Amino acid sequence: MSRSDIYPLFFLFCLLSFRTVLAQNPIFACDVDGNPSLANFAFCNRSLDIDSRVKDLVGRLTLQEKVGFLGNKAVAVSRLGIPSYEWWSEALHGVSYVGPGTHFSSLVPGATSFPQVILTAASFNTTLFTAIGKVVSTEARAMYNVGLAGLTFWSPNVNIFRDPRWGRGQETPGEDPLLSSKYGSSYVKGLQEADEPDKLKVGACCKHYTAYDVDNWKGIQRYTFNAIVTKQDLGDTFNPPFKSCVIDGNVASVMCSYNQVNGKPTCADSDLLAGTIRGDWKLNGYIVSDCDSVDVLYNSQHYTKTPEDAAAITIKSGLDLDCGTFLPQHSQAAVQAGKLAETDVDRAIGNNFATQIRLGFFDGNPSKLPYGGLGPSDVCTKDNQELAREAARQGIVLLKNSNDALPLNPSTSGSLAVIGPNINVTKTMIGNYEGTPCKYTTPLQGLIQAASNSKITAVQGCSDVSCSANGFQLNPAKQAAAQADVTILIVGADQSIEREGFDRTDLNLPGQQTVLVQEVTKAAKGLVILVIMSGGPFDITFAKNDDKISSILWVGYPGEAGGAAIADVLYGKFNPSGRLPVTWYPQSFADKVPMTDMRMRPDSSTGYPGRTYRFYTGDVVYSFGDGLSYTNFKHKLINAPKLVSVPLEEGHECYKKSCSSIDVTESLCQNLAFDVHMRVVNSGAMVGGHTIFLFYTPPNVHNSPKKHLLGFEKVKLEPKAARNVVFSVDFCRDMSLVDEMGNKKVALGSHVLHVGDLKHFLTVGV
Ligand SMILES: *[C@@H]1O[C@H](CO)[C@@H](O)[C@H](O)[C@H]1NC(C)=O
Ligand SMILES: *[C@@H]1O[C@H](CO)[C@@H](O)[C@H](O)[C@H]1NC(C)=O
Ligand SMILES: *[C@@H]1O[C@H](CO)[C@@H](O)[C@H](O)[C@H]1NC(C)=O
Repeated sequence: MSRSDIYPLFFLFCLLSFRTVLAQNPIFACDVDGNPSLANFAFCNRSLDIDSRVKDLVGRLTLQEKVGFLGNKAVAVSRLGIPSYEWWSEALHGVSYVGPGTHFSSLVPGATSFPQVILTAASFNTTLFTAIGKVVSTEARAMYNVGLAGLTFWSPNVNIFRDPRWGRGQETPGEDPLLSSKYGSSYVKGLQEADEPDKLKVGACCKHYTAYDVDNWKGIQRYTFNAIVTKQDLGDTFNPPFKSCVIDGNVASVMCSYNQVNGKPTCADSDLLAGTIRGDWKLNGYIVSDCDSVDVLYNSQHYTKTPEDAAAITIKSGLDLDCGTFLPQHSQAAVQAGKLAETDVDRAIGNNFATQIRLGFFDGNPSKLPYGGLGPSDVCTKDNQELAREAARQGIVLLKNSNDALPLNPSTSGSLAVIGPNINVTKTMIGNYEGTPCKYTTPLQGLIQAASNSKITAVQGCSDVSCSANGFQLNPAKQAAAQADVTILIVGADQSIEREGFDRTDLNLPGQQTVLVQEVTKAAKGLVILVIMSGGPFDITFAKNDDKISSILWVGYPGEAGGAAIADVLYGKFNPSGRLPVTWYPQSFADKVPMTDMRMRPDSSTGYPGRTYRFYTGDVVYSFGDGLSYTNFKHKLINAPKLVSVPLEEGHECYKKSCSSIDVTESLCQNLAFDVHMRVVNSGAMVGGHTIFLFYTPPNVHNSPKKHLLGFEKVKLEPKAARNVVFSVDFCRDMSLVDEMGNKKVALGSHVLHVGDLKHFLTVGV
């Protein structure tokens, strides 16, 4: 073929591929423009209420069609104008390609990739959590409109980060039930909240319910793990984030997990599903299984005799949707065998349809509906990417800063040696449940931009984070440090060290990384700054105690703009304000505590130390809430009550005899609210953000936590500026305890409120 023959063909090819890209349409039902007769179906009628539309639709389906709506790949029913819908998409910290419902293409090649959740949580900024959710849902809707995404996203992960070795701890907001609750409900609101009440921008899902945080530890697999959990730990540790997702966040879905809790698979436990989520918390939405959970409880756990029994018990327990094909395959036979009522199937698919109706899926062409105007130009906007950088800055935690070594001054800090396996990473920065980002700024690129006058020498030292003896290049790293005015070590982990399906067995830096840090530090001529990039914590006691290491930062997995954010903090363009969302334990914890021991509370008879800042009795490397600033903040307690009186009726058993605690009841809880007034001053010379933590220590009854976060508030203050902060405390919501039986109690006696070193005693009496 001659050149002139090729040209028109090439042109045609471009035109065709351009057309196929543009021709992508969103998936939706009730296309009345294409098929006017669909307008006669009540389920397509937007003027009707949701229940009537659901009832109408369910009533038109055969049993065989119905069971096709029980799986993540829901069937099409063309006679009713219903296309197949893929329920499974993910948006943990940006629209993700994990899950078959979402794809990137030449039309939308990437989406804004925010920091991995554990770092965002470290910002303790609820406004930020919601702001990120809003950007993610806008980008998701934009992608849906061009056929690249679904409307239902199985995020966030609000499991408590109970054990530092957990490979999925990175996905979570950390170890504290209050922070996890605030993160979950705030992010869900950002994703879901639409302009019209009861409509959804996109559907979120809080997972994995419940007590799920062993993935694969020394061969013990999540698919068969039976978590032995006390009612007390369930009530005051594992379940609160899910409760807050449903009640405060109004989340559209909860996902049950793979593991068993006390011998029952969570997806087959009617107390957990129908009882707690649907009954007590009043979920408005659907309960979905983790992917292949139903198959797993039948085939791996052998929990039921037949597949029909597995279908029957899960649906009857309250499951509405199976991520998988098990329920579509076996539910019809379960009904025909009399093990499952067809009305149970109706309830399940009804909850799924109601969610889709709230999303506008049955409202016809989305281009005419709210969000219909969003498209590819709304993804990866300058503002969205700036928020990704801002989120990373707000989360980064400064753990050590001797002699105010940081911030560096770009004009006077001289030459730089940048050393370590994570100095120039891209994908490492975005963690798991990731999407394709808009672009990356690596740490090295961030430093080159920030210190454009400095001579920079970059040496990885190890070929990757595993830092094996093979490819370990200590000498070039030492030489670089010996000649530089400032040495910045960037070490830590990536998904090869901690990930889904893979827990760590120890808390040390991987491979030769400790040797690298120690030897480079010894050889260094100037300042040494250590940057840890990871999801989970490490035992870095050696670095904490090494006087030659002036500064230590934890930067999580900081997202697409991570390198720019790290440089912003190191060079003082941003004053760090992040606080650790988890306890950093010493290696001895991993040596003696099995990951599979779910107990939160210590047991002095066996030396079991307990878990998280609320219960753990051993030594720590760093504590929950640790984090420094380049300025100083001072607190003052202005006003808080010294006495709270619980109103008891005369006949109450604790009216005459003295009790140590009283059952929480509605009448008891009236008038038990009070305010705590604080004053915060920025006494230093630099503007900065600051989180005020209000902790309390209850009286020692019912194995209560030794300390518990009851509120936090982040403020930003100019130098010398002051601000009053008021915590509105609702005693029953914020300061009640959960007893050994899982019941809520008000403890009588002396409670201590803590803010930093300040203590305030509050007596609770009748
Ligand atoms: C939709 O429902 C409203 C309210 O019941 C009704 O007035 C209207 O006629 C219905 N539309 C169609 C096309 O049936
Ligand atoms: C750093 O990573 C970027 C992006 O992958 C790459 O373009 C650049 O060449 C790398 N720089 C060095 C010094 O390896
Ligand atoms: C919280 O985050 C929002 C959104 O990025 C930001 O505007 C605000 O300043 C932050 N608040 C504090 C106290 O840092």
